[in-house]
Amino acid sequence: MLLSARDFPEGFLFGAATSSHQVEGGNDNCDWWDWELAGGSKDPSGNACEHYSRFPEDIALLRRLGLNSYRFSLEWSRIEPEPGRFETKQLEHYREMALACRAQDVEPIITLHHFTLPRWLSAQGGVLAPGSTERFAAFCNAATDALEGAARYIITINEPMVLVLMGYLDGVWPPGRKSPAAAAAAAMRLVRWHRAAYACIHDRHPDMLVGIAKHWIDFQPLDRANAVHRRGAALQNYLFNRWYLRAIRDAYEFIGLNYYSTRYVTGLRTGEPLASPDEPHTEMGWSISPQGFERSLRALREYRRPILVAENGIASSDDAQRQRYIVDHLTAVRHAMREGVPVIGYQYWSLLDNFEWAEGYRPQFGLFHVDRGTQERTVRQSGRLYGEIASTGRLPAEP
Ligand code: BGC
Repeated sequence: MLLSARDFPEGFLFGAATSSHQVEGGNDNCDWWDWELAGGSKDPSGNACEHYSRFPEDIALLRRLGLNSYRFSLEWSRIEPEPGRFETKQLEHYREMALACRAQDVEPIITLHHFTLPRWLSAQGGVLAPGSTERFAAFCNAATDALEGAARYIITINEPMVLVLMGYLDGVWPPGRKSPAAAAAAAMRLVRWHRAAYACIHDRHPDMLVGIAKHWIDFQPLDRANAVHRRGAALQNYLFNRWYLRAIRDAYEFIGLNYYSTRYVTGLRTGEPLASPDEPHTEMGWSISPQGFERSLRALREYRRPILVAENGIASSDDAQRQRYIVDHLTAVRHAMREGVPVIGYQYWSLLDNFEWAEGYRPQFGLFHVDRGTQERTVRQSGRLYGEIASTGRLPAEP
């Protein structure tokens, strides 16, 4: 039998992602901590995965699996616990994480903001606080100065439109607002945050590559023959997917794509069914659609920048389902690349079972299972399979 050539090029960034609040533990100076204590989440984050102290072990696990990159986030509330007071010890902690990656030939991919805010900023009005853009830019300066020479890929904000929807329109995340006007203002403010961060990182660190992590949903009309469904899908595609990217145009070197699912639309309002009754779905209720992934990758081509899949993954207690998910979604990436879509990497969400925001600890996304009592990490078969694909650059042969 002839061995097939590589499906992914040498140097393709195969990795896994986490975010500070979801894995570090004891992150008690941010808005989410208070939100959890007030009952906004099914479980409090508590000690999470103790990744703050266990990161050397976790990076070694990722490397041993065969991955060559790790996306993690910096916790603003640790770095700037009071307005204008930057903690050198915390900045050094994150530099050490990036260097620990480098020492093992793992490319660190840094997110500067992944949903949480320092408590002091949230008390002043959070994203909408007067002067929040300048505050964010100052934090980005301190953070990237500390990462100089240790990290190249910098993602300014994780999923700005998800933060807007969950926090300002649906009110199920901090700050718990349910106001279209506040949501519009927050979206515009997050454009300013990104643009300000992009400009100052570039001034000080011209070698860093700056991008965004954009959650992209593959909106499809539930019934193609129905004009209301079609218009609804087009409108949501514009508002949720495209508007933000257009607003930050010319201010990114790469696009981080967070893709999870197709959403079937029946009208112009939100609150549409998430999954089609005919398609399998994850334990989050999201429809499983590698075809939607391929469509999303193709759609991003028009932005003419390299695409880094910054998140893609599944919550499932059935690991066989996770294995299929990973192979099918990587197959979609390969198809898109063969058509010329410039994908430079894929970060599975997530390295570890971790704190899933309002859903608490029930959904399990990890390549590694984490025992909540002992903190023991156990690799899943899906983790091994993904590691094998990453180290050979080849997808398993079709059965
Ligand atoms: C977020 C992660 C989250 C994941 C799964 C993404 O929207 O960036 O923080 O855990 O989806 O829901």
